[in-house]
Amino acid sequence: MKTVETIAGYREIRSQLYEPIGFVPTMGYLHEGHLSLVKRAREENRTVVVSIFVNPTQFGPDEDLKNYPRDKQRDLYMLESYTDIVFLPSAEEFYTSGYNSWVDIEGITDVLEGARRPGHFRGVATVCTKLFNIVQPTRAYFAQKDAQQLLVIKKMVRELNMPLEIVACPTIREQDGLAMSSRNTYLNQEQRQAAKVLYKALKLSEELYSDGERDANTIRRRMTELIEAEPLAEIDYVSVANAESLQELDKISDKALVSLAVNIGRTRLIDNVVLG
Ligand code: PAF
Repeated sequence: MKTVETIAGYREIRSQLYEPIGFVPTMGYLHEGHLSLVKRAREENRTVVVSIFVNPTQFGPDEDLKNYPRDKQRDLYMLESYTDIVFLPSAEEFYTSGYNSWVDIEGITDVLEGARRPGHFRGVATVCTKLFNIVQPTRAYFAQKDAQQLLVIKKMVRELNMPLEIVACPTIREQDGLAMSSRNTYLNQEQRQAAKVLYKALKLSEELYSDGERDANTIRRRMTELIEAEPLAEIDYVSVANAESLQELDKISDKALVSLAVNIGRTRLIDNVVLG
């Protein structure tokens, strides 16, 4: 495994890499969820490239960029067995002084995470464009856990004719159902127990749906009641939306994305399932 810290350094070795190239963009502090993407990339490609970059432009002014968890040595150790190249660019090189070029994907970024975190998806789309331009992968791997991010990236690649395939990978969960996330490390023991309520609410939506419920308002209401019964949980949103357009539904007739954002203490957790 080789580490590369500059764009020029990566460009120097790019022509020597065997194709197809599988790419996993990350912000580090890796967990089993990231590793599942890296392992899938390993199975499907001759070269695996992973980037670790805590992208400042996707954090809002009130979001804690400085305290985002980081552990480079541990990340490199975890990647060692599956990865050929780890790309670790610097913010200074990615966003030079006077930087002014942005990628804005409209429509599906106005709702859910995009509505609560203005500028977030502009930062994500911009950094992914830069990473795709530099790494030049055959395929890039993204988790269903960040469902809206996945849709934004797919739309961007399709509409801007980027020459790569986006591979969606299932959410990896702890034994009790909590979706793996670097943010879980912020939870104390009591909050960690309370965080189980996210998956319980999503399971409830699946049960209601398989019992024949198609009224989206009923599903939202039942999920909301369940979460409100957990004293440490504070709902940001509970959504039942069309899985492509992300518009809220009254009736479920096609695929629906059930997603939620819940604050447990000061930690904001998101999760989702797809119905139908
Ligand atoms: O999902 C993430 O970790 C980030 O949003 C990504 C895709 C690496 C871009 O910074």
